Amino acid sequence: MAIKKVLVTRKIPKNGIDLLRDAGFEVTLWEKEFPMEPEELITSAKEHHALLCSSWDKLDARFFREASHLDIVSQFAVGYDNISISEATKHHIAVANAPGVLSNATADIAFGLMIAVSRNMFQNHKIIGSDKWKHNDLTANLGIELNDKTVGIFGLGQIGHLMAKKCVGAYNMKVIYHNRSRNVQAERELGAKYVEFGELLSQSDVISVHSNLSPETANTFDKRAFGQMRSQAIFINTARGPIHNEKDLIVALEDGTIWGAGLDVTDPEPMNADNPLLGMPNVCVLPHIGSATVTARLGMSEVAARNILQFYGEMPVENLLNREVMS
Ligand code: GLV
Repeated sequence: MAIKKVLVTRKIPKNGIDLLRDAGFEVTLWEKEFPMEPEELITSAKEHHALLCSSWDKLDARFFREASHLDIVSQFAVGYDNISISEATKHHIAVANAPGVLSNATADIAFGLMIAVSRNMFQNHKIIGSDKWKHNDLTANLGIELNDKTVGIFGLGQIGHLMAKKCVGAYNMKVIYHNRSRNVQAERELGAKYVEFGELLSQSDVISVHSNLSPETANTFDKRAFGQMRSQAIFINTARGPIHNEKDLIVALEDGTIWGAGLDVTDPEPMNADNPLLGMPNVCVLPHIGSATVTARLGMSEVAARNILQFYGEMPVENLLNREVMS
């Protein structure tokens, strides 16, 4: 095989890069802290055969038209809403992602946010730093207990399943879910019950979002949805920011339509430092760190590199998202 050139568009753990180099690939690294500009990405992609990219790279119709010679795009993430799969397929470019290896880490963040919101942890932490901890008011600052409550999972794939499992194990929570298809394993293992979206909203004490971002899921949690939720409900999103409508969420929190929110994803990212959500007592926001553990990031690097190795090794690409290109 002639030497293949791979462009890695973000700084990633070295193990995946070593795998590629050891297998004889020529790897170019973009080592700046910020992502490439779209023009820069196109220009550089033109000089490579494969791309190992991240969610910050917008691979749209124009990108694939300009870089139609690419063989494979391997995403360093499980989500791939930044990539137009149909356009890649049109140009016979394989697209693969890195699922599984980050599921535990991401479910941990959802679970941690749920607890943090239920006890106002982030705001209480700030109180000490701003020297406002003078005495303890025994009637104020009261949180919500999670024991025996109902968690509603929106998008019950691997990450949603792990979040549900933690909720059952730690708090004996009842699990209901809404998904494109039934998850028989979760129903069997956790007694999870499939419900229509309206029921998910009205019956959950905690709603945790774990779906992909797509035209069908964008803006799902808007004024109407928050309006059907319980006034004591906690909303958690560790999937993608545009699945909830931020303006509507702010209003729902301000007027007490729901009790609190925990977000690891926002729209836009990064969130502005003056965003009103950051000053709200029942809100915890994190800067998209769901997969930020050593184990998960090493796993993602390896899986993203392996997708490319499998492709050129003419082996089945395990995480291929557009199987049509291989026929
Ligand atoms: C992180 O958000 C991912 O999609 O992997």
